[in-house]
Amino acid sequence: MTSPEKALGIRIEAHRRFSKREINDWILAKISLKKGDKVLDVGCGNGKQLIPFGKTVGSSGLAFGVDVSQSLLDEAMMVAKHDRVDIQVKRCKMEQIRPCLGSMTFDVISSCFSLYYSKGVSQTVTDISNLLTDSGRFFVCGPMRGNNAELADLHQEVSDLPEDFKTHTEFMENQALPLLREGFRKVETSIFRNPIVFPDAESLLAYWRSYTLFVAGATTKFDYLVKRRFSEDGSFMTSKVVLGILALK
Ligand SMILES: C[S@@+](CC[C@H](N)C(=O)[O-])C[C@H]1O[C@@H](n2cnc3c(N)ncnc32)[C@H](O)[C@@H]1O
Repeated sequence: MTSPEKALGIRIEAHRRFSKREINDWILAKISLKKGDKVLDVGCGNGKQLIPFGKTVGSSGLAFGVDVSQSLLDEAMMVAKHDRVDIQVKRCKMEQIRPCLGSMTFDVISSCFSLYYSKGVSQTVTDISNLLTDSGRFFVCGPMRGNNAELADLHQEVSDLPEDFKTHTEFMENQALPLLREGFRKVETSIFRNPIVFPDAESLLAYWRSYTLFVAGATTKFDYLVKRRFSEDGSFMTSKVVLGILALK
């Protein structure tokens, strides 16, 4: 089975190669980071957002990332060093973010495709709010209803949708949005749509195997279905639909 770290890399690479738009352009426009800002990335993974954050805030600012996976943090540091970007990282679970970061404060906190992993989301959101300066802002993004609907429909021809896929898809609207409306002064939402066109069966199968839709017992049937679909249509398009929430303290 593919490790979560390797699976993340496969999905990021598929988005880079086959999607129409770059999600970081949308995220950076939403959070309005500037030189000198202090930004925290919660669930930073291998630095997909953290490294661009570091480039934006420069050496007068601070781009700090936390993640539960040491190997992803090591990867982020390696890329940042190669690109000569200043970032700092620390291994911590978001459920322990307060003791982990002590008295640090940030102008901006961002959490992309990560907050739904918290085992106590309400407490994590309160902790994040307490890590912000008085005029700080918190940006969260993640999949929303309709995300990868075309791929989910194809998957359902051979198997039920896994629970994780359903909970992740409902999280932003059903949990994150009400919590942020309750805990922050002002909340703004926006939607990012990004078609991904897979050019061959192998690339789509690799993506599915690295995604929450993957069901090991459905592999043979799904392989057959995908190969048949490609022999008929030549390509396959699915759309990422991402909800962004900007919460002002
Ligand atoms: C889907 S990845 C997103 C990474 C990055 N933000 C991106 O968009 O590429 C989710 C990340 O959350 C991290 N994660 C999962 N559970 C966590 C927890 N309890 N505390 C901190 N990080 C966690 C994973 O290790 C992974 O790097």
